[in-house]
Amino acid sequence: MNGSSSIAELAAAAVTLFRQRFEAEPDAVAAAPGRVNLIGEHVDYEGGLVMPMAIDRWLVAALKTSDHPVVRGVSAAGDGGASGIVEISADDRSARGPWVKYVAGVLNGYRELGWGVAGVDVAVVSSLPAGAGLSSSAALETAVAVALEQRGAPALEPADRARLCQQAEHDFAGVPCGVMDQLAVGCATEGHALAIDCRTLDCSPVALPSGLVALVVDTGVHHELGESEYPKRRAECREAADLLGVELLRDAVIDQAQARLAGDDRAVLRNRATHVINEISRVRDFVAALQADDRGGIRRAMAWSHDSLRDLYEVSCPELDALVSLGRELPGVVGCRMTGGGFGGSAVMLVEEGVVGSVAEAVAEGYRLATGLEASVLKVAPVAGAAAVELAPEAVTQPAEP
Ligand code: GLA
Repeated sequence: MNGSSSIAELAAAAVTLFRQRFEAEPDAVAAAPGRVNLIGEHVDYEGGLVMPMAIDRWLVAALKTSDHPVVRGVSAAGDGGASGIVEISADDRSARGPWVKYVAGVLNGYRELGWGVAGVDVAVVSSLPAGAGLSSSAALETAVAVALEQRGAPALEPADRARLCQQAEHDFAGVPCGVMDQLAVGCATEGHALAIDCRTLDCSPVALPSGLVALVVDTGVHHELGESEYPKRRAECREAADLLGVELLRDAVIDQAQARLAGDDRAVLRNRATHVINEISRVRDFVAALQADDRGGIRRAMAWSHDSLRDLYEVSCPELDALVSLGRELPGVVGCRMTGGGFGGSAVMLVEEGVVGSVAEAVAEGYRLATGLEASVLKVAPVAGAAAVELAPEAVTQPAEP
């Protein structure tokens, strides 16, 4: 499906795919958006503040529960061989399996809450580009969670559902992610970005100033290094927090941290902690700047965030740096930075609405000249978080039970 597909179109396609491959009717359908993080990077796992925005690209899951302890999936991406179906055991925690491991992880979360369902068949259709760092895995987890709750799994508050999905990713995909992505795709409010306190899980919607739109620019690269560096950064933060005597770096104070972590042998930990502590302050400054429509403040916070991720946290890469350098030179780009985990994926730009087309062209052309690669530029709008999809009566012959 292309980027302009509506949830209804994606849902109809998911139901059709389910019927074709499983020769049965799905009994619940749910949609979850992707997300782009505006600021607050690599701080969620230290209890920090973040500000993602759910975007108008969705993943839709149509599913049916079963009595067999297996999870079977089909996706429009067509990665299931001749049958189109990928399959794993419902308790396979090896993290090596195909994408249905995320589904198995979510199912397992509800089973641990006492729900008795053994397995799931699921069909997935998406307008969310995979591998662009826009949280397609959190969208999959959350869409499946919402659909399972439609089928009678324990109904959770959105923040608890986000935690369950995060745990699924830890236990079944082997990715020790924070909770930002699952909260963003689960709890967002239409028309707003979301200021999240990752310690309390409190979410507050914040509108973008009128006339500013978000562009997501996908580098088209994904450096494998990120897979090993992400857990390494988390471990470095833990070490720094221990040395500083705080439970989370959220509680550390910059001057004390720099003094305690002085010396060449602690330079790496000092840099990591400095990034986290200052990034959390930048989120506060950024929220204030958005609310006051202070474009200089928006620009400064995003620029400083990127430089810190590049130099102190060391999670950027030449392709992301090239995009950000281009964005900084272009009139009408109010702020830009890398977004998400890093080592590839996307940059985000906040751009004056009137120049979006020319900025998109200039970025694509400049990136081609600088790197020889093609960037894809998406204009994205803030949307609401995950929800069940009610199917038109003709689409489902056996309506979902409550
Ligand atoms: C990934 C993780 C998130 C967060 C970001 C970095 O997207 O899934 O939890 O840590 O990286 O901000």
